[in-house]
Amino acid sequence: MIVLGIETSCDETAAAVVTAGREIRSNLVLSQLDEHRPFGGVVPEIAARSHLDHLDGLIREAMEQAGIDFDDLDGVAATAGPGLIGGVFVGVMTAKAIAAARRLPFLAINHLEGHALTVRLTDGLDFPYLLLLVSGGHCQLVAVEEVGCYRRLGGTVDDAVGEAFDKTAKLLGLPYPGGPAVEAAAKQGDPARFNLPRPMLGRANLDFSFSGLKTAVRHLVAEVAATDAPKAALDRQTVADLAASFQAAVADVLADRCQRALAIFRQSYGQSGPLVVAGGVAANQMLRQRLAETAATGGSCLLAPPPALCTDNAAMIAWAGAERLNRGLSDPLDFAPKPRWPLESLATAEGRAQQTNPKGVAVL
Ligand code: KG4
Ligand code: ZN
Repeated sequence: MIVLGIETSCDETAAAVVTAGREIRSNLVLSQLDEHRPFGGVVPEIAARSHLDHLDGLIREAMEQAGIDFDDLDGVAATAGPGLIGGVFVGVMTAKAIAAARRLPFLAINHLEGHALTVRLTDGLDFPYLLLLVSGGHCQLVAVEEVGCYRRLGGTVDDAVGEAFDKTAKLLGLPYPGGPAVEAAAKQGDPARFNLPRPMLGRANLDFSFSGLKTAVRHLVAEVAATDAPKAALDRQTVADLAASFQAAVADVLADRCQRALAIFRQSYGQSGPLVVAGGVAANQMLRQRLAETAATGGSCLLAPPPALCTDNAAMIAWAGAERLNRGLSDPLDFAPKPRWPLESLATAEGRAQQTNPKGVAVL
């Protein structure tokens, strides 16, 4: 079974061809970074227009690299939400057009489900497993029970962890996107120089909070800048130390929450299983190292996709499509893209709207 995947929910235009046998035939990602960098963040209209300009060429290239023709496909999958809706529309309409023209099943993929299932593509992991999903828009702990069945164990009550990285980078005068820039700066920094708060540490539930941490960075930046006056910009070492101190605080919080989640998961499912981390922030090597230690302490191990499959890509969308197709699922061509689409809602009829299998039989 061969599936074409399309990802356009944020600032990456991506197309990939993946087989149900876990083979990535092609996986192309075109970053729009240069277009958004002058604005210090993603501009939705620019993103949508850029997806429109580049997507068809990228799909052609992905098909060529995979060495197949549209007739060889068994399905076309596209991110149908959550995300910046203009971009999501571009990907969904393109996928629907290919599906209609070639009479192929269309698969509307939840972007978070793409991240959640990536570890089954890379490592063939069985259900159930505990997932820490950390990206620019999301931070949640999820029990992954089956394709379409996700139980949210906890999540952020304010900012996502990637958002905290991006905002901290901005405060420190580091370039966009913030995550990789903070990680690089932190390598030269002293994580013990600034004592930043560890929100939610030790709490009985599995929630996160990052807005206070970001505010603490803002106050420190203002303080340091004032004492260094008239030098407005922070010196290099201070930036590195602030980045390292921020990253250490995030690591402590994620480790604490995951340690508790592993215990709760074991109680609920009678097995520990590996701790899986996915989403853009999972590309961070320091955090991966720390979570690996946490998992080992809890009698488990860490499974994390390679960094290129942690950040947004279309291989994960094609794979989620293959998983759904394998279970006889596909979506109607009038499926409406969803700007908001919680992972746990997929188990309900309203969450997925109507689904049909390739033979057209309704399976709600
Ligand atoms: O999953 P993703 O590519 O897009 C979303 O679905 O949001 O995640 C992007 C987020 C951004 O906030 C980015 O700063 C963060 O992931 N990120 C990182 C690293 N690489 C990307 N955060 C920390 N360390 C990194 N190395
Ligand atoms: Zn993502």
